[in-house]
Amino acid sequence: MIDILSLSRFSPLAVELLEKSFRLHQHPSIEVMTDETKSSIRGIAAAGDALINSSVFDQMPGVEIVSVFGAGFEGIDLEAARKRGIVVSNTPDVVTADVADLAIALWICAARRLVGADHHLRSGRWKVDGPPPLASSASGRRAGILGLGRIGTAIARRCGAMDIQVSYFGRRRREECEYQFYETVEHLSAAVDVLFVACPGGPLTRHLVNRMALKRLGPKGTLVNVSRGSVVDEVALVDALLTNQLGAAGLDVFEREPDVPTELFALPNVVLTPHIGSATVEARIAMATQMVDNLICHFAGRELSNRLV
Ligand code: 8YV
Repeated sequence: MIDILSLSRFSPLAVELLEKSFRLHQHPSIEVMTDETKSSIRGIAAAGDALINSSVFDQMPGVEIVSVFGAGFEGIDLEAARKRGIVVSNTPDVVTADVADLAIALWICAARRLVGADHHLRSGRWKVDGPPPLASSASGRRAGILGLGRIGTAIARRCGAMDIQVSYFGRRRREECEYQFYETVEHLSAAVDVLFVACPGGPLTRHLVNRMALKRLGPKGTLVNVSRGSVVDEVALVDALLTNQLGAAGLDVFEREPDVPTELFALPNVVLTPHIGSATVEARIAMATQMVDNLICHFAGRELSNRLV
């Protein structure tokens, strides 16, 4: 049996699928592995935030493939893998719809103040004080999408159904699409009511949403982040929300998960979820299945469903 190292804590289903086809070594950290085990490893299964770089590859020279669970792969050094001829795959298509749904849900929740309204009812205030304060419309507004990849495009399609006008910023202008392109995040932010962050994480996109972009989004603007916390300057975000320079936020991801700035907890204009973009039974089954299939295909010499390197 082929030896596979799991570098992340996987669900029982993912572990079961891995163990069906491979000899699985579960080590959240490679420091605790013996040299003998390290040299036996031919594949790694991990979430995209696991740190897998040249030092890891040097310690495990037998590794042929890194199979990523999920869409993001910011922890994996693709260049180091490419140099050594190591294959890297991920599972992006199966998370797209659920993450895009969550982005729209966070936008509607923030605009319509749904969390506060729910609390108003449950705490008995409806009976005593009457209805809660009025909220804002979500439909018919202008949305900016940062990163028009799979998830960004799925968010844009959902916006279409809500009569929301879409524009975007990304690494390149997409000639084939009808949405307006802006040259910078700051220009995009100034032109929209809601900014959806849907680009990959990692050093290239770190703090793309900076203090200026948040200021341009403005006191009536909303930031929704379903990508990675690193894309947004979190200190600037908290400042902007506390000083009403930014209208609202719907956040599923944070810079130092699972730590979330506690200043946000008291704000009625902020909706917070604990990185649940792909946290549905359907998506997680599909992610686990595809991650394991990619390993199986690699070792059987077959085509992988999604190959990054
Ligand atoms: C998961 C994700 O939360 O796909 C991604 O990039 O962030 C999510 O699907 C993550 O991979 C689980 O560890």
